[in-house]
Amino acid sequence: MHLLSASCVCALLVTALLGQVSGWETVTGLYGETLEIPCNYGTIKAEEVMITKWKYDKGEGLSGDLLVKKRNQSVSISATDEYKGRVSLAANSSLLLSAAKLTDQRTFTCMVVYGTDITELPVIVVIHKMPAGLEISDKAGELEIGKLNKLGTCLAKDANPAANITWLKNNKPLVADGKGVSIQALVLADPDTGLSTTTSTLKYSAEKEDTDAQFTCSVVGTELVSSPVTFSITYSTENVILEVIAQEPLVEGDNVTLKCVADGNPAPTSFIFNLKGEVVKVENTDSYTIMNVSRDTTGEYKCSLVDDPTMEASQDITVKYLDINLSPSGNIVKSAGETFVVNLQIDASGKSKVSWTKDNVKLDKEPQFTKVTYSDSGRYECEVTVGLLSRKASFELSVEGAPIIKHLTKQLGEDGTHKVLICEAEGSPKPAVSWSINGTSLDESPFVNGKITHKITVVPHANLTVSCTVSNEFGVDTKAITVSSLNGEVILTVNKQDSSDDSDQTKLVVGVVVGLLVATIVIGLAYWVYMKKSKQGSWKTGEIENGSSEEEKKLEEKVEENSQKAEV
Ligand SMILES: *[C@@H]1O[C@H](CO)[C@@H](O)[C@H](O)[C@H]1NC(C)=O
Ligand SMILES: *[C@@H]1O[C@H](CO)[C@@H](O)[C@H](O)[C@H]1NC(C)=O
Ligand SMILES: *[C@@H]1O[C@H](CO)[C@@H](O)[C@H](O)[C@H]1NC(C)=O
Ligand SMILES: *[C@@H]1O[C@H](CO)[C@@H](O)[C@H](O)[C@H]1NC(C)=O
Repeated sequence: MHLLSASCVCALLVTALLGQVSGWETVTGLYGETLEIPCNYGTIKAEEVMITKWKYDKGEGLSGDLLVKKRNQSVSISATDEYKGRVSLAANSSLLLSAAKLTDQRTFTCMVVYGTDITELPVIVVIHKMPAGLEISDKAGELEIGKLNKLGTCLAKDANPAANITWLKNNKPLVADGKGVSIQALVLADPDTGLSTTTSTLKYSAEKEDTDAQFTCSVVGTELVSSPVTFSITYSTENVILEVIAQEPLVEGDNVTLKCVADGNPAPTSFIFNLKGEVVKVENTDSYTIMNVSRDTTGEYKCSLVDDPTMEASQDITVKYLDINLSPSGNIVKSAGETFVVNLQIDASGKSKVSWTKDNVKLDKEPQFTKVTYSDSGRYECEVTVGLLSRKASFELSVEGAPIIKHLTKQLGEDGTHKVLICEAEGSPKPAVSWSINGTSLDESPFVNGKITHKITVVPHANLTVSCTVSNEFGVDTKAITVSSLNGEVILTVNKQDSSDDSDQTKLVVGVVVGLLVATIVIGLAYWVYMKKSKQGSWKTGEIENGSSEEEKKLEEKVEENSQKAEV
């Protein structure tokens, strides 16, 4: 190939100009195809034409004959040179030229003889050829941001006229601006065919956004477009981020992965991790994993680029932990009245919250016991939370002691036919309750907070002293109560088992006895008066016996009345 000579271009130009100036007709043919060059003799009637002759301009004032057609004769081909075998005449006098070549771009003249006149009708022939195809070659592997790189070469082969190539990015034309876009075109002509091959080289300064951009080249004035090409855009890192990949909450024993993310392309392949002062270089990875972290892992971590230590990022890692120690724990046994100190120690990575429950019921505050009571017995549980972490601990407190009878009381039954004796005791473990008499056991309360209440009903026919006895493995307690006969209806106060109560009781008994003595004297006196009177009247011995038994009944009734008065 050689450069399409300037003279050749000029000649074409001159011919074209001549054509325009003279008003000559121009026909454009396609390379390699058959071209019809019309002989437009306008107003001349075909019947009048005697001779039609085609010749062509050989240059330098010479002309070459192609063919002649005389009226009523067949066509006579006179071409001897390159046109031999390529020309023929159509019925309408057009010259048919097969396998058009670039060298056919010249003036062909149709000479018509009619009547006595001769006219010459020159036609300028132009041969066009589209490029065989468009392709981008010498494609750059990658584009570095901010640098004018050769992106590729677009090749438009074997065209006439020479293809005018434009470059497009995402279907928008790129215009050379001397900075980011530079386009260099070169046209080469094939010495044999004369066809031109255009190469256009694009130099381009890429930006980050050009990742995935589609570059194409096309031929101006045609729809011919190359296949698109894309490039990976390379750029140096501008930002480094340290990512901490860990569970939430991060606790001792977990693993933590540090990931150094750099935004350069291609991404750096080695990094430097600074682990609380300890420097570690990693290669072919961007991560570093810390296994089995402990509270000592907490601290500041950094990563940076190996070749640019100023590109650095840092993150704080905090390992959460919560240790609690509850003392005492497990099963605790205390005697009623003892002091009991609870101690909860918390070692945590943050502020902790503590809540307590006793037998699953929430407590307002931490349990503390200066003197334990039976009601303090139970399962105590504390829950400590720090953020998402929580720990639980518990102890079971049992308060033990010998039982004590708190109250021993009696009540008249609702219908007045029986009495209810109530023995209330405290002690743990649950004391056994027993009575000194056989009564009907009413019920036994549940054993709650070391308290138990036991009831029996009795129907006393005589005055009774009833005792209640409570016992467990730690001891025994007994209290007694006097229950008067229901007939007598003498209800005495509770025997509280202390001396003052006993003396009161004695006084009461003495009072009753004095009352009875007075009553006996009165009765005796009345009897004496009666005996005196009966000596005056008659009465039978049996009557006396009967009478005496009736008198006894009356006496008893009187005594009862007196007794009731004494009670009240
Ligand atoms: C002349 O004839 C050819 C075929 O014989 C035809 O294709 C062409 O259109 C004709 N030209 C004119 C100017 O009539
Ligand atoms: C994790 O570390 C602790 C001490 O920090 C150690 O006692 C334990 O055995 C380690 N566990 C594993 C699985 O390495
Ligand atoms: C109570 O009744 C039982 C038999 O049911 C008898 O053996 C016992 O002696 C009675 N106790 C008293 C104090 O009456
Ligand atoms: C019961 O005691 C009272 C007073 O101590 C006495 O008056 C009464 O007679 C006694 N009753 C019986 C049935 O013993």
